Amino acid sequence: MSEPEFRPGLADVPVAESAISFIDGKRARLEYRGIAVEALARESTFEETSWLLLKGALPTQRELALFDRDLKQNRSLKYRQIDILKCLPPSGHPMEALQASLAALGMFFPAKEDAWESILHLVAKTTTLVAAFHRVRHGEEALAPREDLGHAANFFYMLTGKEPSAPVARVLDACLILHAEHTMNASTFAARVVGSTQANPYSVISAAVGALSGPLHGGANEEVLEMLDEIGDHSKAKAWLEDAIATKKKIMGFGHRVYKVKDPRATVLQELAEHVFTETGRPAAYETALSLEAAANTLLGPKGIYPNVDFFSGIVYSSLGIPRDLFTPMFAMSRVVGWLSHWTEQMRHNRIFRPEQVFTGQRDQPFIPLEQRP
Ligand code: SDX
Repeated sequence: MSEPEFRPGLADVPVAESAISFIDGKRARLEYRGIAVEALARESTFEETSWLLLKGALPTQRELALFDRDLKQNRSLKYRQIDILKCLPPSGHPMEALQASLAALGMFFPAKEDAWESILHLVAKTTTLVAAFHRVRHGEEALAPREDLGHAANFFYMLTGKEPSAPVARVLDACLILHAEHTMNASTFAARVVGSTQANPYSVISAAVGALSGPLHGGANEEVLEMLDEIGDHSKAKAWLEDAIATKKKIMGFGHRVYKVKDPRATVLQELAEHVFTETGRPAAYETALSLEAAANTLLGPKGIYPNVDFFSGIVYSSLGIPRDLFTPMFAMSRVVGWLSHWTEQMRHNRIFRPEQVFTGQRDQPFIPLEQRP
């Protein structure tokens, strides 16, 4: 029998059947349960989109009202859950705090918890954990969630103590919608692999957070702003890019395994950024980003390398006053819905992941006693 073909990064290798989302990487098309993400970002809310992804169809009015109520009832943290956050080093990265606190969260609930209960805890509390860690690391008290605010507005309130304006809440809500799901990316695959062992869903989500944190995946949004700082003025973008390509640097926020055109989420995020800037004014980083994109269109476009979701999200968040190291945790706050949708699907037709390897080592070696080794 011939050796199976090895594909580094499992490129083009299907690892599951899934009905959750669909990407056409040549036509910049992303659909959640058949609905274009642009329509959802414009018309829907994070709560409604979450139900769509988790349950497979848009909710009725009554289903949405009950889901909204359930999320509100599950947002708050117990004292000891906040105490865990207080014990973590304040200088540590909030993604590490999120991964640790989500794993610990599972210890507070019964081992055989009903799956929907776990989903409610995880979707509702991930947001509270991100906001609470940010406050306690600065020596402030964590704020209890408010019952009168939606998911996105409530996050902003728990983070800053201020209720966001309606346009800011809307932009945040749209950002959460845009990040909620994206087929078989690395963190979703991690969630499926851990879920396939029948580990508890808190371990599943904590593993996915770890996978998302890397700079090749969700961590890129934070690094985009570092890169734009390094470039400095927009007039320097083209020369910086030429040098980066010559020295084989990765351009953060560019390139994608599936998209060979501009990521449709980047296009919507850019529109949202422009919308925010009518209130706040255009930051210098955005001018630099535009010049970088223009230069990249010529220099990287022919290789199918264009801006991805992480290119504009950080610019939007920082213009709302959100610190850089919270960009990836905000991605996780939203993607928890996609991970849980995949976990649910995996559990319905589960078989433990156990792929093959191509063995490249030595075989049948003798054991040489220590004193005889050279
Ligand atoms: C996310 O998968 C998902 O769906 C992820 C995501 C989601 O919603 O879950 O969309 C979120 O993770 C977005 C991606 C964020 N990461 C970055 O922005 C980091 C920079 N981009 C990359 O390193 C890269 O493009 C990846 C990781 C996104 C994709 O990696 P691949 O598919 O393994 O591609 P590759 O690294 O093998 O690159 C292929 C070629 C190489 O050139 P050659 O060796 O063939 O000459 O394209 C070049 C690469 O050098 N290339 C880049 C580049 N991206 C690809 N060159 C410079 N800068 C880049 N950003």
